[in-house]
Order: sequence, then C-alpha cells, then structure tokens
Amino acid sequence: MTYNVNPDRYKKNQFRRSGKSGLDLPAISLGLWQNFGGIDAFENGRGIIHRAFDRGVTHFDLSNNYGPPPGSAEENFGKILASDFKSYRDELIISTKAGYKMWSGPYGIGGSRKYLIASLDQSLLRMGLNYVDIFYSHRVDPSTPLEETMLALHHIVQQGKALYVGISSYSAQMTRKAFSILKSLGTKCLIHQPSYSMLNRWIEDELLDTLWELGIGCIAFSPLAQGMLTDHYINGIKEGTRATKGKTLRESFLSEKNLKNVKALNEIAIRRGQSLAQMALTWVLRDKRITSALIGVRTVEQLDNSLDALNGSPLSSEELIEIDRYAENDDINLDLWRESSSYNSN
Ligand SMILES: NC(=O)c1ccc[n+]([C@@H]2O[C@H](COP(=O)([O-])OP(=O)(O)OC[C@H]3O[C@@H](n4cnc5c(N)ncnc54)[C@H](OP(=O)(O)O)[C@@H]3O)[C@@H](O)[C@H]2O)c1
Repeated sequence: MTYNVNPDRYKKNQFRRSGKSGLDLPAISLGLWQNFGGIDAFENGRGIIHRAFDRGVTHFDLSNNYGPPPGSAEENFGKILASDFKSYRDELIISTKAGYKMWSGPYGIGGSRKYLIASLDQSLLRMGLNYVDIFYSHRVDPSTPLEETMLALHHIVQQGKALYVGISSYSAQMTRKAFSILKSLGTKCLIHQPSYSMLNRWIEDELLDTLWELGIGCIAFSPLAQGMLTDHYINGIKEGTRATKGKTLRESFLSEKNLKNVKALNEIAIRRGQSLAQMALTWVLRDKRITSALIGVRTVEQLDNSLDALNGSPLSSEELIEIDRYAENDDINLDLWRESSSYNSN
C-alpha cells in the first residue's frame, strides 16, 4: 500500500538550482551511507525516509557500496520505493555511485567502463529502478584514463540509465578535465559531491570557484563532519554515536584541538538559539555556490532538528568571522575523508 505522503510537503522546503542546469535540489538532501544497511533496523530507516519526504526532501543519495553489507542500503531503499513511494518516482531525485571496491577481482573497483556500467546495472536491479537521476564517478581512479571514465558516464546517459552525471571528491584540476571531456562528448557534468563543513574547508581553496565558473552544482557531503558538529562529543563520547560504532569517525578526528573548536562553535550556536548541527548547516548553506547540504541521520529526531536549520536566521558577518577562528583543525584532511568514504569497501 502506498504511503500516505504529507500533502503540504512543498510548503516550507527550499530548493536551489544545481549549477547552470534545469534541476533543483532541496537545500538539505538525505544520504543513506550509514544507518540504512542490512545490519540496521529497517523500520527505523523507513521512518526516516517517510519523514524526509513528508518535509519536502526530494533527494536521496546512495552508492553501490552503502550498507553494510555493501549493496544493502540500495536494497532497503528499493523495498521502500516499491511498497511506499511507488506513485512518487517522478517527485524524487535518486543518485548512486561507483568507484570504491564493490566486488572481487579487477572489475569491481575503480573507474573502468566495465566496472561503472556493470555496477550501475546492479544498483538499478537492487533499487528496482529503470534509471537513476544522477550517477556519480565516486572518486578519481588514477590507474584509468579519465577519458574512459567520462565516456562511460556519457554512455550511461545515452542509454537512459541516468538522467544526469556527476563526480565526487575530484580536485579542481581533475574537475576541469572531466568537465571538458564530458562537454566534448555532449554531456554536461551536473554536480560535484565533495566533503565540506566548518571543520573541513578544502573546497574553498579552488574547487568552489571552479564549479561556479563551469556552472557545476555542489552538494556538500558530511556537513556535520560525521556528527562532530553536534552535541555528541562535547562532554565525552555519547553512547550509540558513530564514534562508538564504525571505523569512519576516526579517533584522531576527536583530538583535543578539534574538540576545543567544536565546544567553541557550540557556544556560538547556543547564543544564536540553534543546535550546533543547525548552525553547521546554516553555515554550509550561507554560500550560494552550494546547491545542497547532504546530511546523514540516525533518528527521525535528528532529521527534524537538522531540517529546522532552514528556519534559522542567516549568520551575521561578526558570527562568520568568529566561526573562522575555529577553522584550523587536526587530521581532518582530504585524504582522511576520502579514505573514510571507502567504508564498506574492504
Ligand atoms: N561521496 C562520498 O565519498 C561520500 C562520503 C561520505 C558521505 N557521503 C554522503 O553524505 C551523506 C552524509 O554523510 P554523513 O552521514 O557523514 O553526514 P553528517 O550529516 O556530517 O553526519 C551525520 C551524523 O551526524 C549525527 N547527526 C545528524 N543530525 C544530527 C542532529 N540534528 N543532532 C545530533 N546529531 C546529528 C548523526 O550521528 P550519530 O549516528 O553519531 O548520532 C548522523 O549519523 C552520506 O549518507 C552519503 O550520502 C558521500
């Protein structure tokens, strides 16, 4: 039976255009990297997805390897689509990716045409879809010519298996190359998916300007620094949080220096009458070059709290300057973040 979706779902949510394209994304999108896999409680994930769509979140981000076990987030999402959202496919933007290790042997990892096309076929089967809205090259594969990876993306669009394509965690230089190869083939690079938060600002050096210049959208993943920009770690490590469970929120991220910064940022959030998570999202979305903040959540309460960031007041220039004082952090660098995104890929 189809889920009874909230008829007022579009009354309050905000949408932003992805670069120079015709596609709008919600200012806050939901990712299914963690908490939606086969090891997680299915009904909890289902409740979160219902609530998100009820609040106008139209974009759900997946990857071939999300779980654990790898593939199970797509399977669970497929079940929910089939049972609850059957008549809502055209209101949803569903993305998936390939790049990290998914299956054994040389064809289950990287950026080859063989891997990308086979992986998307598998993702479509798991989700019960004819097409995804966005298909990403999850990472640069230095051992594959970029031309081959981009030709595979172009081919996927031509086959109708994805409406748009994007890239994730590519440097500014590789983004330029990928963009021009795709352009020469007649396919637009819709969007880039990099990590970005108050604690992790690598895209400010060059990538954000590059994306703006090329007309590519930017969807910022881990805007809460995997939960560090919440109240979870302010007074010790809260039970049940990501740091107590997985291997993606590394102990080194919770260094004395980083936690000092998190506490200081929390004080600013309290003064503003926001949770730290809300202020972190207001901060990411302060920049018009950001199309969407791509969050993760473990509970419906977290989702509601984060989505309420859209009702907060903009940050003042004084607050922005104050926040910048806490931008220097230990260990949260691009390589670690890239490595941490290969969770489930061993
Ligand atoms: N392209 C890539 O390589 C890549 C890599 C990583 C992620 N992503 C995408 O980005 C999405 C989000 O990543 P992420 O989960 O790391 O994002 P995040 O939003 O930075 O962190 C999510 C975590 O923060 C905590 N949280 C969220 N809202 C909260 C709130 N309001 N109050 C208190 N705690 C809150 C929860 O942690 P606890 O579970 O500890 O409570 C939650 O699991 C992924 O699902 C995926 O789609 C992409």
